[in-house]
Amino acid sequence: MKVSVIGAGHVGETVTARVADKHIAEEVVLVDIIDGIPQGKGLDMWESAPIRQFDTRIIGTNGYDETADSDVVVITAGVPRKPGMSRDDLLNTNKDIVKNVTEQVAAKSPNAILIIVSNPLDVMAYTAYKVSGFPGNRVFGMAGILDTARYRSFIALELNVSVRDIQAMVLGGHGDSMVPLPAFTTIAGIPLSHFLPKEKIDAIIDRTRKGGGEIVGYLKTGSAYYAPGAAAAEMVEAIAKNNHRILPCSAYLSGQYGLEDTFVGVPVKIGRTGIEEILEIPLSDEDLQLLKSSAESVKANIAKLNL
Ligand code: NAI
Ligand code: 2OP
Repeated sequence: MKVSVIGAGHVGETVTARVADKHIAEEVVLVDIIDGIPQGKGLDMWESAPIRQFDTRIIGTNGYDETADSDVVVITAGVPRKPGMSRDDLLNTNKDIVKNVTEQVAAKSPNAILIIVSNPLDVMAYTAYKVSGFPGNRVFGMAGILDTARYRSFIALELNVSVRDIQAMVLGGHGDSMVPLPAFTTIAGIPLSHFLPKEKIDAIIDRTRKGGGEIVGYLKTGSAYYAPGAAAAEMVEAIAKNNHRILPCSAYLSGQYGLEDTFVGVPVKIGRTGIEEILEIPLSDEDLQLLKSSAESVKANIAKLNL
């Protein structure tokens, strides 16, 4: 496996370190426009290899030649939000960046799988899909794994149980309209409603929806990166190991859930070829309506793109 990570900022460096620690790639190429940053961070991470015991070569660069023939490319290039900003406020700046990056990546690695991280996530995934011309199964966005991880981490705190025993799924767009699914949340197979009253579940859902903003509120100069980096690395791992994991990702929809020509978070099965299947789970009428409204707000932003 050859992996490239575009954008050597907070998320990019974290994905790179996590991928190296997982022993799943021969090489990770880290690219950024700022001279010295990917080179310095890449070398620093490579120097941790004897301690962390990985053989993944990490190369930092400002160009795309080194990314040629990547199997997976993770796009994290762009600006993060600051306090008071919504993810949608990043639309115009990040559209130009993601467009430019995708063109260069696609030219060098025409068979790669693209994992988009830049925000606003679902709209940027759509941008990369359109600009690359790649099939929908090879372009998808990271958000659902992060949102679900936040939801699971809050449930674990509330119940004082291991995060490993919590199975859950958060669907929808990566924004305030995301759709956590308590009906599909279990603790060691036991429904969440057995453990918590509705008010507590609603409070956890609310905190999950605002989870990104909670971190921005603390950091003030940028947004989250440890959990986002870990989430993107989990997607790379599912591809590398071809283990057919079912994970919530932002995927191109062509009729599933009654949605067409948009990206939104849905359960997908991931393997070596990218998305092997989009799962259509039996949502309640209310959850399906929430998913559709979330997709509407993504579509409204896609309409502003003028791609
Ligand atoms: P950051 O500011 O730390 O890093 C962004 C990097 O992109 C910078 O190093 C910058 O130089 C680089 N960059 C900008 N234009 C570029 C270009 N044309 N080519 C190559 N590199 C370029 O930001 P951070 O925290 O790493 O976040 C990156 C993006 O990911 C943001 O848009 C943020 O909103 C998004 N994000 C999305 C998440 C999700 O769940 N989908 C979670 C966390 C962040
Ligand atoms: C988050 O949810 C910034 O979208 C990013 O943390």
